[in-house]
Amino acid sequence: MKQILTYILLAGIALTLTIMVVGADRFRLPGNQQDYEPDQPIAYSHRLHAGELGIDCQYCHTGAERSRYAGVPAASTCLNCHKFITATWGAVQEEDKRAAAEKRAPQKITSPEIAKLYAEKPIVWNRIHNLPDFAYFDHRPHVYAGVKCQTCHGPVETMDKVRQFSPLTMGWCVNCHRQANQTGVAGKAVHAPIDCTTCHY
Ligand code: HEC
Ligand code: HEC
Ligand code: HEC
Ligand code: HEC
Ligand code: HEC
Repeated sequence: MKQILTYILLAGIALTLTIMVVGADRFRLPGNQQDYEPDQPIAYSHRLHAGELGIDCQYCHTGAERSRYAGVPAASTCLNCHKFITATWGAVQEEDKRAAAEKRAPQKITSPEIAKLYAEKPIVWNRIHNLPDFAYFDHRPHVYAGVKCQTCHGPVETMDKVRQFSPLTMGWCVNCHRQANQTGVAGKAVHAPIDCTTCHY
C-alpha cells in the first residue's frame, strides 16, 4: 500500500514537471476527454428515447445501482420494442398514404438503422467515458446518495449523440466530494471521502 502511494506521488511529481514543460493546455491524460463524441455503429438517439419517449435511464443502464459499471444494454433490450417497431411512425404513415394513392396494400418498412438490430452480429458500441485504470470509480454509492445521472453526464436526454460532458479529472471528483460534504445531496447529509485510498488502491 505505502509503496503504491509513494509511486503515485512520484508519478504526480513527474507529471507536474511534464505539464510545466509540455504546457498544461495541451496536456491530457487518457481519461480526460471532455466533449469526446464518437460516432456509433447505429444512429441511436438519447434525445428520442430518453427525451421524447421518456424511457428511464435505468431501463437500459441497469448496472448503475447494482454494480460498479452502469453498463450498455444488449440488443435484446432494444428488441423489446423493435421486434414490433421496425420504422418511425412518420415513415409508416407515409407508406400508408402512398399505398392508398396507388391503390395497393401498404408494405412493411424497416428502417436501415433498426435493421442493424436484426442482424446476427453483436453491436459494438464505442466507449465514450473511460477513466485510467489507476482511478477507481463506482456508480453505486453515487446513485444511492441521490446524485443524478445528469449531474455528471449532463443533459443526455437532449443529446442525439452522447458526448463526455464532464472533465473526469481528479479535481472534478475531489471538488464535488468536498462540496457534497458541506451541502449534502438531495437534502441528506453525505460523507464523500477525499483520502487518496478512496479512489486509488
Ligand atoms: C433505450 C435504451 C437507453 C436509454 C433509455 C438510455 N440509454 Fe444511455 N446508452 C444507451 C446505449 C445503447 C448507449 C451506447 C451508445 C451511445 O453512446 O449512444 C448508451 C450510452 C450512454 C452513455 C455513454 C457511455 C459511454 O460509452 O461512456 C451515457 C453516459 C449514458 N448512456 C447515459 C444515459 C442517461 C443519463 C440516460 C437517461 C437520461 C440514458 N443513458 C438512457 C442506451 C440507453
Ligand atoms: C458522480 C458522477 C456520476 C454519476 C452520478 C453517474 N455517472 Fe455514469 N460515469 C461516471 C464516470 C466517472 C464514468 C467513467 C467510469 C470509468 O471509466 O470507469 C461513467 C461511466 C458511465 C457509463 C459507461 C461505462 C459504464 O459504467 O458502463 C455509462 C453507460 C454511464 N456512466 C451511465 C450513467 C447513468 C445511466 C447514470 C445514472 C443512473 C450515471 N451514469 C450516473 C460518473 C457518473
Ligand atoms: C420502449 C421502446 C423502445 C426501446 C426500448 C428502444 N426503442 Fe428505438 N424507437 C422506439 C420508437 C417508438 C421509435 C420510433 C419513434 C418515431 O416514431 O419517430 C424508435 C426509433 C429508433 C430509431 C430511429 C429509426 C429511424 O428510422 O430513424 C433507432 C435507430 C432506434 N430506435 C434504435 C434503438 C436502439 C439501438 C435501442 C436499444 C439501445 C432502442 N432503439 C430501444 C422505441 C424504443
Ligand atoms: C457530483 C458530485 C460527485 C462527483 C462529481 C463525484 N463524486 Fe464520488 N461521491 C459523491 C457522493 C455524494 C458520494 C456518496 C457519499 C455517501 O455515501 O455518503 C460519493 C462517493 C464516492 C465513493 C465511495 C466512497 C466510500 O468508500 O464510501 C467513491 C469511491 C467515489 N465517490 C469516487 C469518485 C470518483 C473517482 C469520482 C470522479 C471520477 C467521483 N467520485 C466524482 C459525489 C460525487
Ligand atoms: C474522489 C476521487 C479521488 C481522490 C480522493 C484522489 N484522487 Fe487522484 N485521481 C483521481 C482520478 C479520477 C484521477 C484521473 C484523472 C485524469 O485522468 O485526469 C486521478 C489522478 C491522480 C494522479 C495522476 C496525475 C493527475 O493529477 O491527474 C495522481 C498522481 C493522483 N491522482 C494522486 C492522488 C493522491 C496523492 C491523492 C490523495 C491526496 C488522490 N489522488 C486522491 C481521483 C481521486
